[in-house]
Amino acid sequence: MSDIKKNAFRILVVDDDAKILYAFLEVLKKDGYSAITANDGEEALRTVASENVDLIFMDITLPKLDGLGVLKKLREQNINIPVIIITGYGIMQNAIKAMQLGAFDYLTKPLDIEKIRELTRKALPESSDSKTIKDEHPLLNADIVDRYDLIGRSDKMQDIYKLIGLVSTTPNTVSVLITGESGTGKELVARSIHNSALGIGYPFIGINCSAVPDNLLESEFFGFEKGSFTGAIDRKLGKFELAHNGTIFLDEIGNLLPNLQQKLLRVLQEREFERLGGDVPIKVQARFIAATNRSLDAEIKKGNFREDLFFRLNVVSIKLPPLRERAEDIPLLANYFLAKYNEHLSKKVKGFSQRSLNLLSSYHFPGNIRELENLIERAVMLTRGEEIGHELLEKMISVNYIKEPSLPVAGTSFRQARENILQIFEKQFIEEKLSSHSGNVTSASKSSNMSRQNFQRMMKKYNINSEDFKS
Ligand SMILES: Nc1ncnc2c1ncn2[C@@H]1O[C@H](COP(=O)(O)OP(=O)(O)OP(=O)(O)O)[C@@H](O)[C@H]1O
Ligand SMILES: [Mg+2]
Repeated sequence: MSDIKKNAFRILVVDDDAKILYAFLEVLKKDGYSAITANDGEEALRTVASENVDLIFMDITLPKLDGLGVLKKLREQNINIPVIIITGYGIMQNAIKAMQLGAFDYLTKPLDIEKIRELTRKALPESSDSKTIKDEHPLLNADIVDRYDLIGRSDKMQDIYKLIGLVSTTPNTVSVLITGESGTGKELVARSIHNSALGIGYPFIGINCSAVPDNLLESEFFGFEKGSFTGAIDRKLGKFELAHNGTIFLDEIGNLLPNLQQKLLRVLQEREFERLGGDVPIKVQARFIAATNRSLDAEIKKGNFREDLFFRLNVVSIKLPPLRERAEDIPLLANYFLAKYNEHLSKKVKGFSQRSLNLLSSYHFPGNIRELENLIERAVMLTRGEEIGHELLEKMISVNYIKEPSLPVAGTSFRQARENILQIFEKQFIEEKLSSHSGNVTSASKSSNMSRQNFQRMMKKYNINSEDFKS
């Protein structure tokens, strides 16, 4: 890009810290761009309205209106100037939000000049009409967007975001162990660490320790030299080598066989290894992230997993909560997957009925987020109306899994216990009748062989509203 062309680009830097502004101006001007500044969010909006701006670097914490607020306003006004959000140490949660608001990328402090340069080049189109932002936008590339989509506002997820942020600022010799039930997002978290630590363009190399046959896993790890065994007709690089400065994700580490556990331990200790049949030491420069849904503690006690390897892997430990322990995130996730599958399946389902949200929130999701995602995908596929109804969900969720109302039997008199169970029965009976008659009290009572008055008395007793069942 010629300097004359560069000068045509105007970059706005928004920060309330004069030192940061100064540093930015120095770098950008030296590189031949024209740069202007603003000290708070409102000034940033005014500047964008009155000047031609091609790219914005903006701190997240700003007086008057914060960086995310400015970003939101710009997007609401359909102003699609690429915005790079600058976040403080360890606040991945904001970084994720920034991405969801359509930030081009985010930078964490302390700022790295090379990174600023690289992002500036990426964010600015070659010439204003040659490419749309979307073509250039690394995060509008679906593959990458998916990797950033960690959804959840519960405290438990906030803690995870903070940990991801923290880990991403550590040297890559700091290994991470991610534990959690199946489908809780272990791989997604590993990718988030990778992306937030390194940005785009570094390899993320996943190896599933239980999917690769045991006799092949060693050469998957280390690669081999030509002629090292029959069939080794050519040198092959292993995954540890291919990962370069990126990330090695060892999935289902709990299934790793003892001899490979020992070899992996050595690699973690010495940060180097040899290809099979070779004697040249090769440095490992990637970060190791391991994941397991088994309890490694239990495996150690049983003698199946080396304790010394556990300590090497578990420098930082991230425990993902099962979905049922953050049930408050279920509506958010459900709506997120609804939007995703509306798009994938070209459907226009608008939302969930209150009853279906209640049903989802009380279900205990043994398969966690993966199960929720699959459920919503099928529901979107099968729904022809505007709303996903609870009848459909009820059919899909195996009846056994729906939380049984606990039967308050112990500690009460026979009469009281019978009354309690009767109440549970009556309530469920009335609700199911109303539900299969779409909230029509007359036909629901008829089909129950009850008088309308009796039916209504029962509805009143249990505070049931027929409106809730209209579809
Ligand atoms: N917080 C989240 N927000 C949005 N989607 C999520 C979240 N966590 C997980 N998912 C989605 O749920 C599915 C399962 O996630 P992932 O593969 O990361 O789980 P896992 O813990 O590795 O499961 P397993 O132990 O079965 O390998 C994926 O499609 C993933 O995109
Ligand atoms: Mg996984």
